[in-house]
Amino acid sequence: MIANVSGNGIAVGITGIGAYAPERVLTNADLERMVDTSDEWIVTRTGIRERHIAEPEQAASDLALPAAREALEEAGVAARDLDLLVVATATPDMLFPATAAVLADELGAKRAAAYDLLAGCTGFVYALSQAYGAIATGLSGKALVVGTETLSKITNWQDRSTCILFGDGAGAAVVEPVSEGGILGFELGADGSGGSDLCIPAGGSRTPVTADALDQELQFIKMRGQEVFRFATRVMVTSAEELLAECGAGVDDVDLYVPHQANKRIIDHAVKNLGLASERVFMNIDRYGNTSSASIPLCLAEARDQGLLDDGTRVLMSAVGAGLTWGSAYMTWTNGRASR
Ligand code: COA
Repeated sequence: MIANVSGNGIAVGITGIGAYAPERVLTNADLERMVDTSDEWIVTRTGIRERHIAEPEQAASDLALPAAREALEEAGVAARDLDLLVVATATPDMLFPATAAVLADELGAKRAAAYDLLAGCTGFVYALSQAYGAIATGLSGKALVVGTETLSKITNWQDRSTCILFGDGAGAAVVEPVSEGGILGFELGADGSGGSDLCIPAGGSRTPVTADALDQELQFIKMRGQEVFRFATRVMVTSAEELLAECGAGVDDVDLYVPHQANKRIIDHAVKNLGLASERVFMNIDRYGNTSSASIPLCLAEARDQGLLDDGTRVLMSAVGAGLTWGSAYMTWTNGRASR
């Protein structure tokens, strides 16, 4: 789907951002001691130097909680006033109940509809579109969108082709009506024919977790890296181009490009092909690795901390992930301009 929503008569924006990464840091040097790899290989092929890893007792909701509290505080929104809480995650606390329901309880968001959304690394952009839609139609007043992942728990730490890529973290955004600006459009899609290129085979109804499935290590991420790489380089460009065109904008109308942090080479390819100036690109993959649905809100929080998100800053976010899914959102940043 693609939509220019700027003429919808209601402006909806992000009024608060929060992020959290677990304290423990796993460096490439640590990985050299675990699998047959090297810092040089990982940095050259991915741009990643280190990643954060959750403690055994930390689940997705535990990472989400501080990120959510920070976002609510920045927005000046009380959890009890939320109508909607969407948690994008591929690593929920449990298959059910939804991590969003767990988080809503911990926050005290007693009036909020709360559900999880599974769109892999595109989850945050998908969830942002859900919050936009609910607010624009009057279904919801204030929403909290969260991306939270404990990918370390579904990673096979003996598989060098995947374990070097992923990290843990969470990010959150308060979404609500703003006086002007805000979200301008979305482009979202999915191609399930590539689903097996990036999946966890066991744990669902197709292959329940059995001793046999565990013997075959089917509870871990399986990835055809080159296929995913090819797909990602293509859709990161087409999604952004199509959305900008739909919104009557060009690359010069992007002040800050916030791409999903999967691989520096994928980002570099997109930046080159889109014709974006490198100083307008936000990257922190070197310190976090791929945190899936947490990656874009983690970037937004750091961009805010670095003073890169002013009133009026035009932000383009693009992501690609399991599904295979992709998505872009284009918006004008609106610092502290909730219309209440
Ligand atoms: N350390 C050292 N060597 C490694 C390695 C590692 N961690 N992982 C793989 N290799 C080896 C391979 O075995 C292969 O060796 P060979 O040539 O002797 O067979 C060689 O490096 C090249 O492997 P290849 O898979 O072609 O590397 P690549 O350049 O495609 O990079 C990825 C691999 C995973 C980094 C890359 O394919 C990728 O980023 N794909 C997209 C993944 C992704 O973003 N997934 C999430 C999407 S949201």
